[in-house]
Amino acid sequence: MKNTLIAPSVLAADFANLQRDIEMINTSEADWFHIDIMDGVFVPNISFGMPVLDAINKHAKKTIDVHLMIIDPDRYISTFKKLGADVLTVHYEACTHLHRTLQAIKAEGMKAGVALNPHTNIDLLEDVIQDIDLVCIMSVNPGFGGQSFIENTYAKVEKLKALINRKNASTLIEIDGGVTNKNAKQLVDAGADVLVAGSYVFGANNPIATIADLKEITK
Ligand code: DX5
Ligand code: ZN
Repeated sequence: MKNTLIAPSVLAADFANLQRDIEMINTSEADWFHIDIMDGVFVPNISFGMPVLDAINKHAKKTIDVHLMIIDPDRYISTFKKLGADVLTVHYEACTHLHRTLQAIKAEGMKAGVALNPHTNIDLLEDVIQDIDLVCIMSVNPGFGGQSFIENTYAKVEKLKALINRKNASTLIEIDGGVTNKNAKQLVDAGADVLVAGSYVFGANNPIATIADLKEITK
C-alpha cells in the first residue's frame, strides 16, 4: 500500500475566507499545503506574494510546499525559508545555474524541488537528479488553475521514475495541474508520490470528502 501525498493548491481557495480554507486543509487528510507564487513574467499571471504566505504560515499545521513560478528565484530563497517553506520548488526553465540554486535551497534547510513545463524533457535532469528532493511535473502549462490535464504526463512520470531508479536517487515525483479522481490512480501507478489538486478540491461541494477520496483511491 502506498501513502500518496495529497497537496491541495491554495490558489483555488476563497481568499476572502482564507483562514477557513486553511483550517479545512488542517482538518482534512491532506498532507501538504501547495502554494503557487507567480510573478507575471515567468508565467502570464500574478497570484499572491509574501504577506499572504506569511498569513497562511501562521495557521497552516502541515508541510508548506512552495512552487515558485518566477524568474531568477535565487533572489528570494532565504525569504521563503523565513516565510515557512519546507519544500521550495523552482522551475528548470527559470534557472541558469540550477545546480547552484538547489544547493542554496538545501543550505537553508529546505527540500529542493525542480518543476518542469510540459515541453521540458525529463532527460535534462539526468546530471542533477541526485541533487533534487522533488521533481514537479507540470501537467498543465503553469499560470492558472482549472486547466485540463495533459495526457502525455503519464509517459513523463514513467520516464522520470526509471531515471530515479537507475540513478539510485530518492527524489519524489509530484504532479501539478488538472488532477482529479479520474487520473489520480493512473498517475500513482506510473510512479507519482505527491498529487497537487486545486480546483478539483476547492470546487467540490465537500472538499474534505474529496481529499479523503483522493487519499483512498491512491493507496
Ligand atoms: C498552475 C499551478 C497549480 C494550480 C493547480 O500554474 O502551479 O498548482 O493551482 O490547479 P488545478 O488543480 O486547478 O489545475
Ligand atoms: Zn503549483
